[in-house]
Amino acid sequence: MNRKHTTVLVLAVLLTFLWLVSCRKDKNDEPGSDVVPAQATFTVPPGWPQPTYNLAGNPLTQAGFQLGRRLFYETRLSRDGTISCASCHSQFSGFSHLDHALSHGIYGLFGTRNAPGIFNMAWKTSFFWDGLETSLEKQPIHPIENPVEMDFKMADVITFLSGDAAYRTRFHDAFGDESITEDRVNKAFAQFMSTLVSSNSRYDKHVRGEAGDDYTDRERQGLAIFRQKCATCHAEPLFTDNSFRNNGLKMNSGLQDSGRIGVTKLATDRMKFMVPSLRNVALSRPYMHDGRFTTLEAVLEHYNSGIVPSTTLDTLLTKGIPLSTDEKSALVAFLKTLSDTIFTKDTLFSQPKNQ
Ligand code: HEC
Ligand code: HEC
Repeated sequence: MNRKHTTVLVLAVLLTFLWLVSCRKDKNDEPGSDVVPAQATFTVPPGWPQPTYNLAGNPLTQAGFQLGRRLFYETRLSRDGTISCASCHSQFSGFSHLDHALSHGIYGLFGTRNAPGIFNMAWKTSFFWDGLETSLEKQPIHPIENPVEMDFKMADVITFLSGDAAYRTRFHDAFGDESITEDRVNKAFAQFMSTLVSSNSRYDKHVRGEAGDDYTDRERQGLAIFRQKCATCHAEPLFTDNSFRNNGLKMNSGLQDSGRIGVTKLATDRMKFMVPSLRNVALSRPYMHDGRFTTLEAVLEHYNSGIVPSTTLDTLLTKGIPLSTDEKSALVAFLKTLSDTIFTKDTLFSQPKNQ
């Protein structure tokens, strides 16, 4: 054998080996696989309140979690087969949608709002910018049936899943038999989404006083300013108080979105929107319900000088939040410490390799 042949042979052996290794990995969450995948768990991080989602009503199992994860990445749950939940909620940006101000659904249609990050959902009391839905389990039907998002019917989803042998096996493994119902689809989604807990940013290490805490003076200063000026609404540790407030944004004249009033019909709720969590905020531009600001600096400038007075403006903001250039840069430094790359890179939550 000459050198060229040897190289080819070595390469072939190497490729076969890599192929075998990747197949092993791919089989990780296959039903009946003997490879033990990383285990999904739900634990309340130290110092956090108890979750609001009733986990006892939907006990977490590995098969249920893996099914929910697979459904989350399943494009065949949309009318043209191109859009999955993950199309608008990508893991690297904290399951939000980086860059697009307004969400993109099937046939490239535009929605009217910016996709929020999906993490720490088990602590939320309502969902969507206007709080339209109060149940984590009933939430998925909204994007599935939204004509500009996935444009399917829940009945189409059940028909598709019931006609797929691999899904029937997965439902069997998760719930004890092959029956596929809306309730089970919702419960599987909720098992996946409730395990998306983000609690390992540098901020968390700092407040927990953990080894490896490398908080700088600048970041400490930013945290102190934040606690003084922002934390009533963006309350620690979840960085939201789960309320709806008017933070002084001018109504987007094109979209005519006036927020919470659309759900409650109360005039006092005009221009109130959910207080979003600020965890992973540096990873998930643009900002606000319509994605109007592309940088954190622009958000801070809004609080500093852009607050629009109105009868429903939050009383905390009637004078705006005056911030010096130095305070703004300290706040930005602090906000960047809320990025949890352990969470955004955790392969347990990424698209299954064989999907
Ligand atoms: C076309 C883009 C798109 C798709 C596809 C999509 N979403 Fe969303 N998602 C959004 C937008 C935009 C919002 C905010 C909507 C609103 O406030 O009215 C949102 C909000 C949410 C929320 C609420 C978050 C919060 O903090 O209140 C959850 C949970 C969620 N989506 C889960 C899902 C699931 C599960 C799927 C798949 C079944 C899915 N999404 C598919 C764009 C999308
Ligand atoms: C009165 C309550 C309140 C206070 C005080 C407040 N915010 Fe907000 N914040 C909100 C609300 C409500 C929104 C969402 C508004 C919308 O999109 O319509 C928001 C949105 C944001 C966003 C965009 C997040 C995203 O994912 O789109 C950032 C960043 C932010 N606030 C940072 C801050 C900082 C920093 C401070 C302090 C300087 C602060 N906020 C003070 C209520 C408040």
